[in-house]
Amino acid sequence: HALYAAAAAVLEGVESRQGSIKGLVYGSRFQNVKQLYALVCETQRYSAVLDAVIASAGLLRAEKKLRPHVAKVLVYELLLGRGFRGGGGRWKPLLARHQARLKAELARLKVHRGVSRNEDLLEVGSRPGPALQVPRFVRVNALKTCIDDVIDYFKRQGFSYEGRASSLEDLRSLKGKHFLLDPLLPELLVFPAHTDLHEHPLYQAGHLILQDKASCLPAMLLAPPPGSHVIDACAAPGNKTSHLAALLKNQGKIFAFDLDEKRLASMATLLARAGVSCCELAEKDFLAVSPSDQRYRQVQYILLDPSCSGSGMLTRQLEEPGAGAPSKKRLHALAGFQQRALCHALAFPSLRRLVYSTCSLCQEENEDVVQDALQKSPGTFRLVPVLPSWPHRGLGTFPGAEHCLRASPETTLTGGFFIAVLEREEVSSSVSQTEALGPELTPSPAPKRKQQQRKLAAGASTPPCT
Ligand SMILES: C[S@@+](CC[C@H](N)C(=O)[O-])C[C@H]1O[C@@H](n2cnc3c(N)ncnc32)[C@H](O)[C@@H]1O
Repeated sequence: HALYAAAAAVLEGVESRQGSIKGLVYGSRFQNVKQLYALVCETQRYSAVLDAVIASAGLLRAEKKLRPHVAKVLVYELLLGRGFRGGGGRWKPLLARHQARLKAELARLKVHRGVSRNEDLLEVGSRPGPALQVPRFVRVNALKTCIDDVIDYFKRQGFSYEGRASSLEDLRSLKGKHFLLDPLLPELLVFPAHTDLHEHPLYQAGHLILQDKASCLPAMLLAPPPGSHVIDACAAPGNKTSHLAALLKNQGKIFAFDLDEKRLASMATLLARAGVSCCELAEKDFLAVSPSDQRYRQVQYILLDPSCSGSGMLTRQLEEPGAGAPSKKRLHALAGFQQRALCHALAFPSLRRLVYSTCSLCQEENEDVVQDALQKSPGTFRLVPVLPSWPHRGLGTFPGAEHCLRASPETTLTGGFFIAVLEREEVSSSVSQTEALGPELTPSPAPKRKQQQRKLAAGASTPPCT
């Protein structure tokens, strides 16, 4: 027990640059210096592997009192070391509860990386794969706070703010307690990949939304102005809905639909925490929502983020080997629904702009769905060329497909994603609002410090918008 506590303390000290392993081991009060040194070195050697296993097993979320460095040492000992062999004290039963899941996650990782021995994980593990390098993106919720206050808060917590990033390279090289402002999205902060903010008071109070950058693009590109009426067709669990509400400044209306009762329940909690008050949430099949219903006569904006194979999701890429290739049958069923949903959405009479998005990498769920919808309503809608300098574009399967955006850990340091922006033809004759998002890399001034610190509205209550 004392050995594990000492090893965790040394690891923590090394990470926060208090000294070298040797120095910290000799400086500790642990008597068996050799044993402690060996355990720390081995744990550190497998650090990336242990991080991946602990994260995918959800250990720290399940055991809130377990400190990350202690967890790392214990999981090393359990899975890769000598086992607890009669030691382990009070941690032994705790780890025993998670043993099966942890072992399964280690096995998955090996299959995923195509290796059979723990040792073989090292080479790959010490060079983390692209999915492991995706930074932690944090959207600042403008309904509850502002970017300057959040930056100040993190600075007071010992984080170091590096200003606005100018390239993906800046994001890739983030380390330790440094953070940046995203080069493209004005309310998106970027932290190193390992940063876990699920317990952070600002997150708990709804001031921060932990949302991948690619998943922030759909609402940003739909860009509904305050006061407008918006449909979020497949809305739960609601991260994009809360982003839309922030863009609307809670003025106007969001009609949010979803079929799944449980997901809707967590969405109601999420929206309440985020201070969203302009949203009507309904447990409803979007395909059964009538475009001629008078309630939706003012709807000019639709976000369609339908169920998909999820083949671009980072957790899938990390955990589920082969998840990138859903079966033909499943793809066919999903694409059928996606096509119906997109055509249905385009039938809303006042619709001006629609964003279609998926977290899938499959052409069948992405370019093919968009092409099908455009072919079925020729001359009515067109694809808008957005974010011209976004490096990863739609597959060139039909003319104009390059206007779509794709995203991936390798090309954009995000999860895998697809986005298409469609606009009604007559709207396009005037200057399109989304095309105006073209010079996205022209930096606006990065936030400066504010004189006054606004108080955190932790626990501020807004009624759920069900
Ligand atoms: C990819 S998720 C949406 C994620 C959500 N936009 C967000 O950002 O949090 C797809 C959602 O579509 C819902 N869904 C599937 N079929 C539907 C339908 N026919 N009508 C409404 N929602 C549907 C699923 O229950 C699921 O919650």
